[in-house]
Formats: sequence, C-alpha cells, structure tokens
Amino acid sequence: MKILVTGGAGYIGSHTSVELLNKGYEIIVVDNLSNSKVEVLDRIRELTNRDFKFYRINLLNRGELDRVFKENKIDGVIHFAGLKAVGESVEKPLEYYHNNITGTLVLCDLMKEYGVKRLVFSSSATVYGNPERVPISEDFPLNTTNPYGSTKLMIERILEDLYISDREWGISLLRYFNPIGAHQSGRIGEDPNGIPNNLMPFITQVALGKLKRLSIFGNDYNTHDGTGVRDYIHVVDLAQGHLKALDKILEKPTLDIYNLGTGEGYSVLDMVVNFEKATGKKVDYTIVDRRPGDIDICYADPSKAERELGWKARRDIQDMCRDAWRWQINNPNGYE
Ligand code: NAD
Ligand code: UFG
Repeated sequence: MKILVTGGAGYIGSHTSVELLNKGYEIIVVDNLSNSKVEVLDRIRELTNRDFKFYRINLLNRGELDRVFKENKIDGVIHFAGLKAVGESVEKPLEYYHNNITGTLVLCDLMKEYGVKRLVFSSSATVYGNPERVPISEDFPLNTTNPYGSTKLMIERILEDLYISDREWGISLLRYFNPIGAHQSGRIGEDPNGIPNNLMPFITQVALGKLKRLSIFGNDYNTHDGTGVRDYIHVVDLAQGHLKALDKILEKPTLDIYNLGTGEGYSVLDMVVNFEKATGKKVDYTIVDRRPGDIDICYADPSKAERELGWKARRDIQDMCRDAWRWQINNPNGYE
C-alpha cells in the first residue's frame, strides 16, 4: 500500500510517517519545507530503517504535483500540508486561504484525475470556535474566529461536497485537539521557527534557559484555576489515530469525522506543574493579559473514534511532558 503524505516533513506528518513505515506502508513525502527542515527525513529513515521518496514540491504547483502522481501508483493520501499559525493568519489572510485552500483543491483535482479516492485530512478543534459546553462532540455547531480556522472549516465543506458528488470517495476529517510531545526516541519532535506560539515548546525552551520565563495569558478565565484549559494529546497517539482512520477508508468508501483528543482538560498552570514533576526542571512564569481570541476551555469527547476506529489516546500528560523534554534537550536548536 502506497500512501502520499503531504506535509510529511512537519511535526505531525513526520510522526505519522514513522508509524506508517513501521506498519509496513510505503510512503511518498511531499513538502515544500516552508515550515520544516530536510534533516527530519533522515531521522525518519533512521528510526524506521526504511527508505522512501521525497519531493520538495509546493502543492500549489500543479505541474510538479502531477509528476508525483504520474511516477507513483498511489493508494491513498494523508494531507497535512498547510500553514497553521493563528496570529499570522490574521495578518496574512490571503496567503493562508491561497496556500491551504488552493493547495487542497489542486491535490484533490489530481487525486480525482488519477482515481485516488482515499483521503485523510488534518482538521482542527478550532472549527468549533468557542464551544457552548464541554466535552465537545463531532455534532457541535461549527464556527471559526480567524482565517486559519476558516480554511479548515472551508476545506471540510469542500471535502463533504466532493463526497456527495461521488460516493466512491473515502474521506476522513480528523479534528485534532492540542498535539504536544515527541517520539520517545528524542530524534523527532516539534521544531518551531523563532519564538514559539504554542504552550509546550515555550515551556521546554524556558526550562532549557533559551527563554526567560513563560507568560501565562490570563488567569481570569472561567476554569478551575483561572488559566485556559485544553485537551493535550501526545503526537504519537495522534499519529496512530491516522492509521486507524486510513484503514477504515481504505476498506470502503465513506465520509468520516472524528475528534482526536484525550477527553481530559489541563489548565496552563496544570501543565507547568506536570512538566516540573515529569522533568525535575523549574519553569518560571508570570501572569500577563489574555491573548486575543483565546477561549476558556476546550476538550474533546473522543468516544466516537474509540467506538468506530478502536482508537484511544494511551499516553498521559507525564509521558507528553517527558517526551517533549527529551526532544528539547537532545536537540536544543531543533533540526539545525
Ligand atoms: P507543520 O507546519 O509542522 O507541518 C506542515 C508541513 O506542511 C510543513 O512541513 C510545511 O513545510 C508543509 N507545507 C505547508 N504548505 C505547503 C505547501 N503549499 N506545499 C507543500 N508543503 C507545504 O504543522 P503540523 O503541526 O505538523 O500540522 C500539520 C497539519 O495539522 C496542518 O494542516 C495543521 O493545520 C493541522 N493541525 C495542527 C495542529 C497543531 O497544533 N499542531 C492542530 C490542529 C490541526
Ligand atoms: N498559553 C500561554 N502562554 C503561551 C502560550 C500559550 O499561557 O506562551 C496558553 C494559551 O492561552 C492557551 C493554552 O496555553 O490557554 C494553549 O495555547 P496554545 O497556543 O498552545 O494552543 P491553542 O489552544 O491556543 O491553539 C491550538 C493550535 C491552533 C488550533 C487550536 C484549536 O495551536 O492551531 O489549538 O484546536 F487552532
């Protein structure tokens, strides 16, 4: 079975590539390296003892992507490639809509042309906007608050319409909650450019001494300690969820939607305490103003994925902290 992994050099794509290779799939990675480094590909080969083809291609370039389909007999696609920074999407909406939406349209058009009708798509819990209550199940109303989130919601709609037009497609929309952590080898992990936007890489860089202290964005939220609550999920559990989703759509045509989360919420302060406990490192912090657009609380009802895919997140918050830290100390400058 040959799987095309778009964005396979990125954080979630690299972990999923390892799981695919370990399960015996052949993979082809397409990535333009706009938010990743070529070094990760050798790390994937090293961890799995398997080789694979890599194309440094922008999805927007139809001619080059066509070559990938021409040169390989592809059975299915896992589509990670996209821009993902919420704040940046507010500043550069056209870039986000163009990259994420046009990239997906070009990909799907070629899939259709070559009769490759199996697709797993990286959606996000951001499509739920500010949920009325928690835990969030897949049938909750959808609503987005920034261009990045809107690209995810629009792509979901496009893929639903594609399925309605031709029921031979098998499409799985996976709504990720907050992926953190790293492969337990410490060889691959999250390598953000510049100062991290997300909580866990910020914490690990404070613990390492690269950043002075964590700014906690507000302690007046409607949560148990006033700081924002999220559903953090180990990236390897998340990667394994993709294999389950893929198996199901390879078996028969369908349109599936799943939350991939743990079902547990942790506040920012809980994360600091858990990180300190898991690693023995101190994390200095200060409370600052809320970050615009942040919500109080967000965690999944992941029971549909368990029921229908037989998938459940297995790694706990201590595993997530420990693995994130192992990656950070072994690679203080990421893949450089
Ligand atoms: P990432 O930035 O590490 O990986 C995305 C990869 O796609 C990068 O390697 C980048 O170079 C590549 N890419 C971007 N645009 C491309 C294009 N036009 N052509 C070819 N390659 C391109 O991000 P990630 O955290 O691994 O996220 C993967 C997917 O999951 C994204 O679609 C993201 O929106 C989604 N997602 C991520 C999170 C999260 O918190 N990390 C949460 C929910 C959803
Ligand atoms: N936080 C801080 N300080 C920081 C960074 C984050 O206090 O330096 C807090 C945030 O306010 C929030 C929590 O830590 O309460 C988590 O923040 P992240 O930025 O790590 O994650 P978000 O939940 O804000 O966003 C993530 C992804 C988005 C996605 C969203 C919804 O980054 O792409 O989940 O699924 F849209």
